[in-house]
Amino acid sequence: MGKNKLKKFADILSLPNVFENFNPDDEYLINGDNDKVEIKGKWRSDFFKNDNPIILELACGRGEYSIGLAEMYPDKNFIGVDIKGARIWQGANQAIEKNLNNVAFLRTRIELITSYFEKDEVDEIWIIFPDPFLKRSKSNRRLTSPVFLSEYRKILKSKGLVHLKTDSPPLYEFTLETIAEDENCIINYQNDNIYASELAYKELIIKTYYERSHLKDGRLIKYVQYTI
Ligand SMILES: C[S@@+](CC[C@H](N)C(=O)[O-])C[C@H]1O[C@@H](n2cnc3c(N)ncnc32)[C@H](O)[C@@H]1O
Repeated sequence: MGKNKLKKFADILSLPNVFENFNPDDEYLINGDNDKVEIKGKWRSDFFKNDNPIILELACGRGEYSIGLAEMYPDKNFIGVDIKGARIWQGANQAIEKNLNNVAFLRTRIELITSYFEKDEVDEIWIIFPDPFLKRSKSNRRLTSPVFLSEYRKILKSKGLVHLKTDSPPLYEFTLETIAEDENCIINYQNDNIYASELAYKELIIKTYYERSHLKDGRLIKYVQYTI
């Protein structure tokens, strides 16, 4: 492992806005200076210290959406979730530099998400350029698959929105099919080329590392917003 990555791993532990899980068999989280914390059901009271809505960004990478949304909506709380510590480190440091107290990061596998949030604790979920897992045998790993939707239902408020932004036609089609086959899912908005006309939502202007690279390659950006 490079020196830089090692330093990021050491630093991430001491960042006050990062919570990490290291062992899937033991679901506790570490925050700050190696403190063990139980934050499930207590994100508002114990970390954000307000009653504002909580919005998750799943597969957040460097957390550009969490940070961009937090700047747009100071009265909402944002939590970026990813398994890669070095990426989260960048977002967490940026949030600190920008004095954004309404952003936190959770380093864990998204498969464990119900270990860290209570029923109805989450108001909205953004999924931004997730890995498309193109092989059919891996479709359960797609973050918009029925397996994940049933987990999100355990923590997301009724009528809470799910947003997917992707460049991947197969993932986009798979998501639309999953929605169509699920009688509880309702689409609010869908667009298979969001930049072809004026943006429907100002939040869509935020561009992540992966989006910028896909745009450079001339790929079309797709978006669907739905309830589950
Ligand atoms: C293609 S990157 C996109 C990152 C960011 N959203 C962006 O647009 O730049 C996908 C991210 O998903 C994360 N990821 C994929 N599967 C995951 C899982 N099951 N749990 C946690 N993170 C996951 C990866 O670590 C990676 O950072």
